[in-house]
Amino acid sequence: MLIHWMAFSRQELKQALKRRLRRRLGRRLEPYVSTAETLVGPQRLREYRRWADLPTLNRELLREEYDNKIVKVRSYPLEITLATTIRCNKQPACAICERNLRGTDLEWDAPSIVLERLKPVFPHLDILYLHCSGEPLFYKRFEELLTMVKPPTKIRFNSNAVLLTKAKIKAIMDSEVVDVVNFSVDAATEETYQFIRGPGFDKMVGNIKALSAEKERRGSSIPFIVVNMCVTKANYRELPQFVELAKEMGAGAVDLFHMNKGPDWKLDRPGGRVFDYRDQERMDPDEHDAMIVRAFDRAREIGVDMNFVGSVFFSEDNNPKKAQVGDEIRELDRWESLCVAPWSRAVVGVDGNVRICYFHKEWDESVGNLIFQSFDEIWNGDKAQAVRREFLERGFSDHCVKENHCMFLGRV
Ligand SMILES: C[S@@+](CC[C@H](N)C(=O)[O-])C[C@H]1O[C@@H](n2cnc3c(N)ncnc32)[C@H](O)[C@@H]1O
Ligand code: SF4
Repeated sequence: MLIHWMAFSRQELKQALKRRLRRRLGRRLEPYVSTAETLVGPQRLREYRRWADLPTLNRELLREEYDNKIVKVRSYPLEITLATTIRCNKQPACAICERNLRGTDLEWDAPSIVLERLKPVFPHLDILYLHCSGEPLFYKRFEELLTMVKPPTKIRFNSNAVLLTKAKIKAIMDSEVVDVVNFSVDAATEETYQFIRGPGFDKMVGNIKALSAEKERRGSSIPFIVVNMCVTKANYRELPQFVELAKEMGAGAVDLFHMNKGPDWKLDRPGGRVFDYRDQERMDPDEHDAMIVRAFDRAREIGVDMNFVGSVFFSEDNNPKKAQVGDEIRELDRWESLCVAPWSRAVVGVDGNVRICYFHKEWDESVGNLIFQSFDEIWNGDKAQAVRREFLERGFSDHCVKENHCMFLGRV
């Protein structure tokens, strides 16, 4: 095949590649064809052939548009986070969850039109994330959605794992698009799990193990299994044990983070205990930090990755071991220094609102709504373009700082 290509002159090659791409991708992909033209040259043929998938072409187009400060774009975001549902099987809600602030009568699935309008965008994406304040496995169209997305686009989601039935495991494995599932576990013991997440510890553990076993049976490396813990006063002493439980369930990594700031509630939990949100933020700083270090060492020993989103340690000191652990696990440090979210990312709320980033407010700071507009109209609407202009001028927009302060803003 390569020899056949090499027999063309540069000009002929351009034309042939254009025709081939058009045939393969269709006329609506004109922008990719013109971008692809710039790659012509025998030494790049292999690269060029790799390009014949939409997410790669989209990424290249996006980079070109960003570099050229283009605000009316032909590219799509690299990642969309879609709130498929804000409903959840956990009733009552987990003690940490914002669902405690709303009744189930205020919970619903995304309207069908939202999915229909996003469907043509899926093939361009690198990753479709399915979460935001509900349980993706509780979404009525979960299995159908998996069939709407094809490789190389990937799907990732967080889940409480309780509804991970055999049928759902099969659908996940058969789809070949789910490459990461991040299970929210929050505890290494049944008692702590009950306190934070309610009943279902054994089921959750059994279901995650069943997914790991099915992966092994099929000889598949995906989905990569992560288990996460929202670190609170109730569970931080279980951190080393948590890492071991993660390994036992077949997880390759643990994600840790602290509770979101702001909420303040007291809830009656099983066993007559009370979950006091504010009090759960108060941990012995030295003991907390020591637990993180112990968990890190254990994770290293048994071959589990560890990530921490946000500030890792409570106490400021010059402990070199803490500095080393912090450098290794702090998620923030792994982010690129420049945020390109208005080109690369969109978050779709369960009511169809599209915003650029999770930290932008759902109603006031949305750039459009999929119930009333197509994704293309929104992505190139006045509001989206205005956010891009702000980013080009100063690296972030008013939306990033006005109310929900972006946790990554330290870097701009
Ligand atoms: C809201 S849940 C939705 C997905 C799924 N139901 C689950 O529990 O993983 C998404 C993530 O938010 C986390 N979360 C919930 N309440 C939180 C809080 N107050 N602070 C920080 N993270 C929280 C959960 O642990 C979970 O990992
Ligand atoms: S499982 Fe997830 S969405 Fe459901 S209550 Fe718990 S944290 Fe909230």
